[in-house]
Amino acid sequence: MSGESTLEAARARDALDPLRGFRERFALPRDAHGEPLIYLCGHSLGLLPLAARELVIEELDEWARLGVQGHEHARRPWVPYHENLTAALAALSGAHPSEVVAMNSLTVNLHLMLASFYRPTGRRSRILMEAGAFSSDRHAVASQIAWHGLDPATALLELAPRAGEDTVPEEAIDACLREHGEEIALVLWPGVQFRTGQAFDLARIVRAAHRHGCIAGFDLAHAIGNTPLALHEAGADFAVWCSYKYLNGGPGAIGGCFVQQRHADAQPRQHHSGGLPGARLAGWWGHEQTTRFLMEPQFRAAAGAAAWQISNPPILAAACLAGDLHRGAHGAAAREVGAAQLLSRAAAAAARGAGTPHHAAREGAARLSAVAAHRGRCRARGARVRGARRTRHGVRLALARHHPGGAGAVVQPL
Ligand SMILES: Cc1ncc(COP(=O)(O)O)c(C=O)c1O
Repeated sequence: MSGESTLEAARARDALDPLRGFRERFALPRDAHGEPLIYLCGHSLGLLPLAARELVIEELDEWARLGVQGHEHARRPWVPYHENLTAALAALSGAHPSEVVAMNSLTVNLHLMLASFYRPTGRRSRILMEAGAFSSDRHAVASQIAWHGLDPATALLELAPRAGEDTVPEEAIDACLREHGEEIALVLWPGVQFRTGQAFDLARIVRAAHRHGCIAGFDLAHAIGNTPLALHEAGADFAVWCSYKYLNGGPGAIGGCFVQQRHADAQPRQHHSGGLPGARLAGWWGHEQTTRFLMEPQFRAAAGAAAWQISNPPILAAACLAGDLHRGAHGAAAREVGAAQLLSRAAAAAARGAGTPHHAAREGAARLSAVAAHRGRCRARGARVRGARRTRHGVRLALARHHPGGAGAVVQPL
């Protein structure tokens, strides 16, 4: 199929797109005339999967019908409810089911992972992350460093793109580790960079980190559901993500966490510290399910990543996420890479004014300020695009997973 960014080419692509039908499974925001909006904010908040409404109402009805007994007797009992999400999250992250768990939200999960995996000792006390990381990640990392009584000004190592460049090639991460590896306890890196859309080779980053004795952890906020992942095979130590972007889990959706099997296995089930560099912070939901309600003071950890749970999960939020995951829409990720490349090209063409006859004032339009097109996501300059949110870096565009593949059609008529 032609990669041309004309309206005709884009419509022809749409007609052949095997995932075209997914669009009908989502609620599309509409304009004043009732026409569905072109929604390019999948990187910020995915749209409502229609199934989510049904599943949330089902749980509300179960609550009305059963009260507290819903924990055990609801159609989908609430005590193990998070397990309904496990298989799909494992498939999306390339993990064994025992390595993933839906819980909390991203930054909270990042703190829990850093509590377990960041244990500065002697000279090896630094954390390597990207310069310009998402603010919450930086706050989490800097506060963890301070929590250990260290100074983020020296213990936080931030790797920036070379002057005049937008992205950080993996070679630069290798080089930084060669130079500073012995001082670095932990590398925290994104799967996909939130501003540029750069997708990283996670296996390569893990290999480089491990070669120098560092832990390798990932923030997959912009990667999960957006690009194929293979966390287990890559040997990643841990990863965290949110579910309100490409997983369409809804505002404030329940997040997720990956812990490599060998770490969970090495951690004693009845002690809070052991095989990991740090301790595992615990709560009753990380206790193995069969004996949890005996309420005994002795902790016995659940197997795998589930042991990192702390509190009982928000069932209504989990039901919302199940509305997306259980409908198989996550199969769309690979197709989206191609579609996003088309979107990038079309946005770049629009930036030069090519083929954009209508880009004069439009309701809700935003002026884009920079061009950077990469795998998975893109930004654009000079075009007027509806539905994208402006930041100081410009406007970021991303296909929601349900959007038909005709990226040209998305940008061309604006
Ligand atoms: C890369 C990245 N990290 C962290 C966060 C913060 O997520 P949360 O509010 O779920 O902790 C976001 C939110 O969009 C994000 O994109």
